[in-house]
Amino acid sequence: MDTPHEEFPIGGIKAHGGELVNRVLTGQEREEALARAQTLKGLQVTSLMNISDLELLASGVFSPLAGFMVQEDYDRVVREMRLHSGLVWSIPVTLALTHDEAISIRAGQDITLWQGNQPLAIMAVAEKYRRDTAREAREVYRTEDEAHPGVARLHRHGDTLLGGEIWLLNWPQPREFPEFRHTPAQTRRMFARRGWRRIVGFQTRNPIHRAHEYIQKTALEITDGLFLHPLVGETKADDIPADVRMESYQALLRDYYPAERVLLGVFPAAMRYAGPREAIFHALARKNYGCTHFIVGRDHAGVGNYYGTYDAQLIFDEFEPEEIGITPLFFDYTFYCRKCGSIVSAKTCPHSKEDWINLSGTQVREMLERGEMLPEEFTRPEVSKILRDGVRSKKSQQAE
Ligand code: ADX
Repeated sequence: MDTPHEEFPIGGIKAHGGELVNRVLTGQEREEALARAQTLKGLQVTSLMNISDLELLASGVFSPLAGFMVQEDYDRVVREMRLHSGLVWSIPVTLALTHDEAISIRAGQDITLWQGNQPLAIMAVAEKYRRDTAREAREVYRTEDEAHPGVARLHRHGDTLLGGEIWLLNWPQPREFPEFRHTPAQTRRMFARRGWRRIVGFQTRNPIHRAHEYIQKTALEITDGLFLHPLVGETKADDIPADVRMESYQALLRDYYPAERVLLGVFPAAMRYAGPREAIFHALARKNYGCTHFIVGRDHAGVGNYYGTYDAQLIFDEFEPEEIGITPLFFDYTFYCRKCGSIVSAKTCPHSKEDWINLSGTQVREMLERGEMLPEEFTRPEVSKILRDGVRSKKSQQAE
């Protein structure tokens, strides 16, 4: 395992807002806080997104945020994609309460956030406030359609929010993929130790098909290292499960990527499916992990037909490059062309649609569920096989 060496500085590109946040309590401080946590008013955190947000807040992935948003940050983020301070931030990070909880918790109180019988964090409740859920849906997701998975989650969560800083007592459980679960401080040291100065981050919630491999390797041609950073937090039910994807990534890396140029890590965040706004959010998070570049391809973080193919690229034009800090690398829609005999895009290929091979996510899922291998031009056979077996075994587990 690639254990980070403490002697390497955290260094590299500046975290968003300047300083990498660390809200993880350790040693004596943690012991005292644990004892205190037992005496405070408690709140069960049941949303998978909130649970993963706690991990991301505490480890600095969401720097400069040190807790769930207070109203002046929330409002400006929804309206203008900026925190109250003016710093760019595109997605609200909020903690919603049920009606009963909302009655019993006051601003000014310290509370303990629990996951079952484990205390996760202490939160200094600065504010309790209401959100306009329809407005958040319109602004952040660009739709009020409750069929959108992000909008549906907003409605499930409700509209009373708690804002305030947190201190982590215990990492949320289960801590899946521990050997790949690097914090930003760790990845920064790992990059330094490898001597990488230009690092490109790749977000994905899908298996790596040939088109993904092509854009990753093209980006690697102009950088020192690739940080392959699949999202493993909550996704919609019909996305390929993270454990199957992780197996497929490792098989691909073993046989087709230079080990000294690639680092595999997991991104514990929940998918929001907020398309353009989530592209900015994904980029800022990867900056905090120490990446200098970030890939944004076709319909990044999109779902259904809610966003235009390149909206997630166009949104970067709304900011000065230095306000984002990390450099986005934009890729056109890529696919296999029979006549070229390679992966191409409309930018690089003179042929026509009849020569192009591409499959939609739905087609891929259906083929795998039927036990079929994906076309070789679309996905490497090693990956296809792992996906086919993984998807079928999940299906038969569900049927039992
Ligand atoms: S995402 O929700 O994480 O964005 P996905 O895993 O499909 O979904 O995409 C990962 C990254 O690869 C995104 O930046 C996306 O825009 C890009 N991408 C995916 N497929 C293609 C493709 N065929 N051509 C160009 N870019 C792509």
